[in-house]
Amino acid sequence: MRLWKNLLMAGAMSVLVVSAVAAAADVKIGFVVKQPEEPWFQDEWKFADIAAKEKGFTLVKIAAEDGEKALSAIDNLGAQGAQGVIICTPDVKLGPGLVARANANQLKLMTVDDRLVNSKGKPLENVPHMGISATKIGETVGQAIVDQIKARGWNMKEVGAIRVSYDQLPTAKDRVEGAISVLKQNGFLAQNVFDAPQSKTDTEAALNAATVVLNKNPGIKKWVAFGLNDEAVLGAVRATEVAGLKATDVVAVGIGGSDAAMNEFKKPSATGFYGSVIISPKRHGYETTINMYNWVTANKEPEKLILTSGKLATRDTYKDVRKELGLQ
Ligand code: GLA
Repeated sequence: MRLWKNLLMAGAMSVLVVSAVAAAADVKIGFVVKQPEEPWFQDEWKFADIAAKEKGFTLVKIAAEDGEKALSAIDNLGAQGAQGVIICTPDVKLGPGLVARANANQLKLMTVDDRLVNSKGKPLENVPHMGISATKIGETVGQAIVDQIKARGWNMKEVGAIRVSYDQLPTAKDRVEGAISVLKQNGFLAQNVFDAPQSKTDTEAALNAATVVLNKNPGIKKWVAFGLNDEAVLGAVRATEVAGLKATDVVAVGIGGSDAAMNEFKKPSATGFYGSVIISPKRHGYETTINMYNWVTANKEPEKLILTSGKLATRDTYKDVRKELGLQ
């Protein structure tokens, strides 16, 4: 009798175990990004893949460089039987449209990096989001620049700033405004901050925009530069080089810390790209994906808003900072 009971129990347990495994294998989660060529997004995908491997579910990576592609990515995931999608959208104003499309496809929706907004520009607070603490990280950029201006003994009032901007994206605007607030608190002249609007958030667009600023202001001999990410700031640095400025007359600080910045630090001699505030593609890729997995499999809804931090790194410190952040 007892033996039978034990056997029955063992049988029931193995059915349970098998169905749990089957459940993980049935899970399909989409990870949609706006700029697949950018190292930051490649790193996010890399860490999302690690989460998928660890839990045994399928991760579907899709590039969506424009609104149409983003919407069809959601339909595509729905047709494949996915249960959830994490997206860094090419346009935050697609917010309500993306939400409707995810609902129609019965997909749980989370955003990463760029937070969806409604027609009035207000964030869609119901969609769980992980982004960087943009203002604070911008302030770290500003402080690093101020410290270098002082260390180099420059006259604060004679320095020009290239504000590589993409103001239609709230996180981008918050980042540059954070930097400017610290510059101003330290005596930087407001009229010496020049807007260089990017048509697209990549290096080439930033180079073009920054070149216009430099050409218009040949009287300024010392420059600082900041923007929403490393690519933007590298564009400004390249523009200063084309304009014939020396690296020692330029202090540019980016945000990101992926390969774009690392490759710059690895160059044999220092460029105007002084530093980068390293943020965590591991949290944005791995943690978002795990959160979605828990939402899909255990109905555990993620926190509505998670803001991650960053740490300044320079040529001299980046290896240690990356190690500290678990990015090696
Ligand atoms: C935006 C930028 C990216 C990266 C992320 C970080 O999406 O376009 O380059 O900085 O934010 O959250």
